[in-house]
Amino acid sequence: MYGGLKDEDRIFTNLYGEQDWRLKDALKRGNWHRTKDILCCGPDDIVQEIKDSGLRGRGGAGFPSGLKWSFMPKKSNDGRPNFLVVNADESEPGTCKDREIMRKDPHTLVEGCLVAGYAMRARAAYIYIRGEFFNEAMILEEAIHEAYEAGFLGRNACGSGYDFDVYLHRGAGAYICGEETGLIESLEGKTGKPRIKPPFPANVGLYGCPTTVTNVETVAVAPTIMRRGASWFNSMGRKNNHGQKLFCISGHVNNPCTVEEEMSISFRELIEKHCGGVRGGWDNLMAVIPGGSSVPLMTKATCEEVLMDFDSLKDAGSGLGTAAVTVFDKTVDPIAAIRRLSHFYAHESCGQCTPCREGTTWLEEMMVKIEKGEADKREIPMLEELSRQIEGHTICALGDAAAWPVQGVIKEFQHVMEDRIENSHKYNPEEWFQKSWSGLADGHDNSKWVEEQRKMWG
Ligand SMILES: Cc1cc2nc3c(=O)[nH]c(=O)nc-3n(C[C@H](O)[C@H](O)[C@H](O)COP(=O)(O)O)c2cc1C
Ligand code: SF4
Repeated sequence: MYGGLKDEDRIFTNLYGEQDWRLKDALKRGNWHRTKDILCCGPDDIVQEIKDSGLRGRGGAGFPSGLKWSFMPKKSNDGRPNFLVVNADESEPGTCKDREIMRKDPHTLVEGCLVAGYAMRARAAYIYIRGEFFNEAMILEEAIHEAYEAGFLGRNACGSGYDFDVYLHRGAGAYICGEETGLIESLEGKTGKPRIKPPFPANVGLYGCPTTVTNVETVAVAPTIMRRGASWFNSMGRKNNHGQKLFCISGHVNNPCTVEEEMSISFRELIEKHCGGVRGGWDNLMAVIPGGSSVPLMTKATCEEVLMDFDSLKDAGSGLGTAAVTVFDKTVDPIAAIRRLSHFYAHESCGQCTPCREGTTWLEEMMVKIEKGEADKREIPMLEELSRQIEGHTICALGDAAAWPVQGVIKEFQHVMEDRIENSHKYNPEEWFQKSWSGLADGHDNSKWVEEQRKMWG
């Protein structure tokens, strides 16, 4: 019922880099088309249109964007300016959508900064891009220069009478700097340790000024929503889950890709239509992490029916998160896969809160023991209990993000854990090498599928 996004409804029309990213081609694609007219609507109307469109933040939590933008003060009583901060950190494992926007369609983001920034009455936008995205930073910097030269940014942006600047800031590469207040700290030149809320950034954010931190994709879709109207955007996807979305699919599919699709497309259609199906066929599917790494995994049974949107995945006990889908076929050891994620979270914890600092290390240690079959079966509920002690007891959501994948693997694969403990003598680390994430190096090749695609697309 959902899915099959039409070409004319795509927002990121240069996602595959068929055209140049520079301004000349971006103008042909419709970027910067009558931006002045959008600004003439006024900040309140823009915020209202974004509310009506049903856009929910693309950074992971899915908070309604128009509502979030409306929290920014309408007037400054003390001379503090408002700021827009664009979250281009994209460190969530498996997530590779924002980088595609910045590589191939950077003007969607630069124009989005002006539209979203104006709607928030911001004086400037700061784009915080992760340090490893060197090429993307160069491209974005150049796109910003082009926009200044064309009179789209700076004083009297687009001839609107509004002054607006865009700055690009490169981070040094830490997952926690993607968390909004950790990001703000890092932008201010400090260690990226998340702040306690309240105060919320909309009151006290960057340099103590009202700030909204929002994701690249959320900002980049705003101008098209304004040009085509809220009703166009919310004609796609299910109620409360509207619009189109970038999905990045990796792991054991024949053709890993980033693709723009309608929200609420079924998981199965997404995989079969755009990724050439699961490696070895649908029945070879074991489990999926549908939203980055910070959500519980789903088994094949759930994947049969689930729709790729916030509510359907939540009802299925998981989450849409960043819409980065990692597919595991049956060669994967689910315990090892989640143990590896536990290592990631323990490594990336900033160490401020005891439940996260100590708890993530414990999670990893217990997962290692269970993976090797060296644990007692009674330690499985203890592991679950430990994850519950972390969840909801920390300053930022990294604690939850560490706890949920562990809860997911216990819920769905407790029998595998128990079997490992009972039959630890059968566990051979050499044999299991590489089964944790990338699956067995079994000589799989997808040349047949590639050949079929070539024929199909000429
Ligand atoms: C540990 C952690 C890492 C995060 N990393 C990112 C990130 O790389 N990019 C991002 O947009 N949001 C990230 N977020 C979510 C942000 O805190 C914030 O909610 C998001 O940027 C809001 O954007 P949105 O309203 O457009 O969804 C992260 C959150 C946490 C807790
Ligand atoms: S939850 Fe973890 S990462 Fe977040 S502030 Fe606490 S210690 Fe730091």
